[in-house]
Amino acid sequence: MAEQLTTPRDLLAAYLRQMLWIERQLADHVLPRLREQAHSPDLRRGFGRHLLETEGHVEAVREVLGDLHVPAEPEESSGFRGLVQEHEQLVGRVAEDDHLLADLAHAVAALATEHLELATYESLIGIAESLGEEAVGIRLREVMEQEEFALEQVDSAMAKLLAEKVESARP
Ligand SMILES: [Fe+2]
Repeated sequence: MAEQLTTPRDLLAAYLRQMLWIERQLADHVLPRLREQAHSPDLRRGFGRHLLETEGHVEAVREVLGDLHVPAEPEESSGFRGLVQEHEQLVGRVAEDDHLLADLAHAVAALATEHLELATYESLIGIAESLGEEAVGIRLREVMEQEEFALEQVDSAMAKLLAEKVESARP
């Protein structure tokens, strides 16, 4: 059984270990696959760029765990696993030649992931700062800025896809 959490510091550590797992999944599997699957050049570029940033996030979260004297052992996130499964199932239901629809599904999944990461990091920064762990807060804010940028990139790629979709649906 997983160890009991009794303090905000324990909770911070547990969530950070989940974020380590999520960032590693993204860096090792999810983003390389999305970069390959995406058809839109904007999405491809965005996923490629965020892959490099995400490799940095893995290191950042590892460092933060080190600062907190917590072993950097990743803890599986069932929420993120669910997001990935849901995305795979939906994409599997899109016709193989419908590139636009598949790309839209990739964009929706990417936005959901960014929101999950942003919400978690935001809360963790609050906890870290309230514990006087200023360095942890600063490091996580840097990660958050890159997540925000990635979110904007996907947002604008999606807006472009939707404009094309509407265009192609016109009689
Ligand atoms: Fe990230």
